[in-house]
Amino acid sequence: MAEIRSVGVVGGGQMGSGIAQLAAVNSLEVWIHDSDSTALSKAHQSISSTIQSLVSKGRLSKEKGAEAVRNLKYTSSLEDFGSVDIVIEAIVESEEVKKKMFTRLDSIVKESAILASNTSSISITRLASATSRPSQVIGMHFMNPPPIMKLVEIIRGANTSDDTFNATKCLAERLGKKIVCSQDFSGFIVNRILMPMINEAFHALYTGVATKEDIDAGMKLGTNHPMGPLELADHIGLDVCLSIMKVLHAGLGDSKYAPCPLLVQYVDAGRLGRKKGIGVYQYSKM
Ligand code: NAI
Repeated sequence: MAEIRSVGVVGGGQMGSGIAQLAAVNSLEVWIHDSDSTALSKAHQSISSTIQSLVSKGRLSKEKGAEAVRNLKYTSSLEDFGSVDIVIEAIVESEEVKKKMFTRLDSIVKESAILASNTSSISITRLASATSRPSQVIGMHFMNPPPIMKLVEIIRGANTSDDTFNATKCLAERLGKKIVCSQDFSGFIVNRILMPMINEAFHALYTGVATKEDIDAGMKLGTNHPMGPLELADHIGLDVCLSIMKVLHAGLGDSKYAPCPLLVQYVDAGRLGRKKGIGVYQYSKM
């Protein structure tokens, strides 16, 4: 497979914006699409101001910053993805919605293009089955925030080819990331282990074991985690955490993965975390 030069990012939320910025700063041509025009213009503003701030702090040269801005193209039409070498999908964590997106992408992108998903937990094999190119479908799971976190977890579906894997690995390394490889089972490596811990922190809060502050301080100071599990859940998004727990529960079939009722209630109440100004904690400014 030829070197990847252009990337299409679907979804301009917290992950899609970060992935697009990272790719543009690393000299790739980037198309970014979101079905919500407000989200697309928010992504435009946030990526531009982050690049500007990297330049003013001296962490990116003026020329590199200007090149990154030139590399980025924002579009409300997915049809613009016809020439990209790889698509990285970062839309809502729903198998049904992602499958529809993969079917659509399959009909738009060129024959040689790779379709990658940033999914946190959903089966790559099943997403691949919604396309006519299962050997070119792969999981490329960035951590949050993508420009800063060092890891990309790569997930091979049952039919992912060696060529697709090698091209995706090269791209991750070009973006300055370390990779780990996971088999295609719900939650892969990172969320298989992280999410049950976060869910258990909700259970501790729900059953009155301790206050939210003490649960977080206990895990930060007692186990040397940089963030407490409830704080981390707010950072990830409680809706994303709940979706992942549901995938683990359905996919692994063990009641230990059932989402905590308090997590479900917060999501029902629209308390989605930092992005909404309220989750487990309240944030004064977004
Ligand atoms: P988000 O809610 O911030 O952004 C999702 C974006 O996708 C929104 O802007 C929405 O308008 C757009 N969207 C939804 N459906 C669409 C469609 N059909 N077509 C085009 N755009 C559509 O979500 P976030 O946090 O960026 O998550 C995106 C994906 O990344 C999910 O699969 C999630 O599991 C995964 N992920 C999330 C992490 C996190 O910490 N939040 C970490 C790693 C992966």
